[in-house]
Amino acid sequence: MARQRGMRRLRVAAALGSLVAGLLVTVGTSQAATQGPCDIYASGGTPCVAAHSTTRALYGSYTGSLYQVRRSSDSATRDIGPLGAGGVADAGAQDSFCANTTCLITVIYDQSGRNNRLTQAPPGGFNGPAPGGYDNLANATAAPITVGGHKAYGVYVAPGTGYRNNNTNGVATGDQPEGMYAIFDGTHYNGGCCFDYGNAERNSRDNGNGTMEAIYFGNIKVWGYGTGNGPWIMADLENGLFSGINPGYNANDPSIGHRFLTAIVKGEPNHWAIRGGNAQSGGLSTFYNGARPNASGYNPMKKEGAIILGIGGDNSVGARGTFYEGVMTSGYPSDATENAVQANIAAAGYSTGSGSGGTGLTPGSTVSLRATTACCTGRYLHHTGSTVDTAVIAGGSSSTEKGNASWTVRAGLGNSSCVSFESRNTSGQYLRHRNFQLYLNANDGGSTFAQDATFCPEPGRNGQGASLRSVNYGDRYVRHYVNLGYIANTSGSNTFDSPTLFDDDVSWVVASPWAS
Ligand code: AHR
Ligand code: AHR
Repeated sequence: MARQRGMRRLRVAAALGSLVAGLLVTVGTSQAATQGPCDIYASGGTPCVAAHSTTRALYGSYTGSLYQVRRSSDSATRDIGPLGAGGVADAGAQDSFCANTTCLITVIYDQSGRNNRLTQAPPGGFNGPAPGGYDNLANATAAPITVGGHKAYGVYVAPGTGYRNNNTNGVATGDQPEGMYAIFDGTHYNGGCCFDYGNAERNSRDNGNGTMEAIYFGNIKVWGYGTGNGPWIMADLENGLFSGINPGYNANDPSIGHRFLTAIVKGEPNHWAIRGGNAQSGGLSTFYNGARPNASGYNPMKKEGAIILGIGGDNSVGARGTFYEGVMTSGYPSDATENAVQANIAAAGYSTGSGSGGTGLTPGSTVSLRATTACCTGRYLHHTGSTVDTAVIAGGSSSTEKGNASWTVRAGLGNSSCVSFESRNTSGQYLRHRNFQLYLNANDGGSTFAQDATFCPEPGRNGQGASLRSVNYGDRYVRHYVNLGYIANTSGSNTFDSPTLFDDDVSWVVASPWAS
């Protein structure tokens, strides 16, 4: 009896063992089958012909390199891959390779297998600022985020930065159909030409209407625009950014500024569309779907099939923005395919990580902002009446002075993905710029005030704390200059736009509040 029970137990154990093994096989198979955006496009009959991302693999089975960084200390390069098949980028590998030096992103590999990688853009109709007229490469640590809880870095395009491939394989030419999407930072843009991702000229020059088909993001109004003050998703079709069928204004293209923005442009013979949505949640909206523009030269199209990132077709280098991932397809993707891609993007879990911009500026918290320039490390951003300045604050300072140097972080009045600063002492009064100087004023409820009082946190430009980028003057940051507050850049003509000590002056340690 005892022996029989023993045998039965063994048989049960064996059966359970094979059941567990079977389950493991099933789990293993379903993991391997996890889809990326390019698997979804392929199922829809419109496969990716270029797949670029510094943040994650875009195929469920992709294990190759995502991008390459080069460090300044010894010019060595390092390829960065995903943590696992289909996974998020191994940012830790970049961090250890770039420890105690700076790194640039030298290559954004093509995951599609067609070798349509992006590298430093060469000169064209316009020269870039780097030697030989090339564009600058992006700083590899300037756009930190998390994806699915893992740290990753985007491609931070300051004006002058650009990537390109003029010798591609499989990208649409002529009037051939194609689709594309990209994920951008919807709070980082400007009115320069042209923050683009997509199809452009193979000689980096303006070859006439219809020789491009790229996603544009920003608020330049020279060609097209939509409702509100921008930014808008538009199509760069060369010598024109189009927001719909008309050159100029189209009422269906909204201002759109999600912190993580999905932007789509697609085109086929006499038909094209613009779509967009929040890359963190929800679906896509269609902002245009119809015939080619009411302007000559865009039907049929004369696409050339080069790929650009961060620049215009003729290497115009005036624009800024941030890119996380993007693809181009062969064939015109269906809306249903793109909707499934958007669901995949939302599930990937893009986030700014802990606190806004990873800087600890979380709405609801109260902070003091300490200057980091060597002159002034005992000074805090402060207001004297309505004038914003810096002041030395210490334990013995009066409670009024401590309150005048304490700010309650609010969701940005002009863009909830960014922040506003309400005076701890004077509720209802916010830090805002006027004529590029900072003041403390009561919120008048208007849209100009809301924009002037909204700042997008980024990692501090000198490596400490946070830098606060103006949402409506995206090349300007909160700066102290001779102890007064401004929004400044390094190219303006104001004395406070001086490049000397700029990075230090715009970097603020986010400290515990003097008055909580
Ligand atoms: O179409 C807008 C811009 O015009 C293109 O990007 C550029 O090539 C040209 O200057
Ligand atoms: O600070 C720059 C601009 O100056 C602000 O947007 C506006 O308030 C003023 O015209």
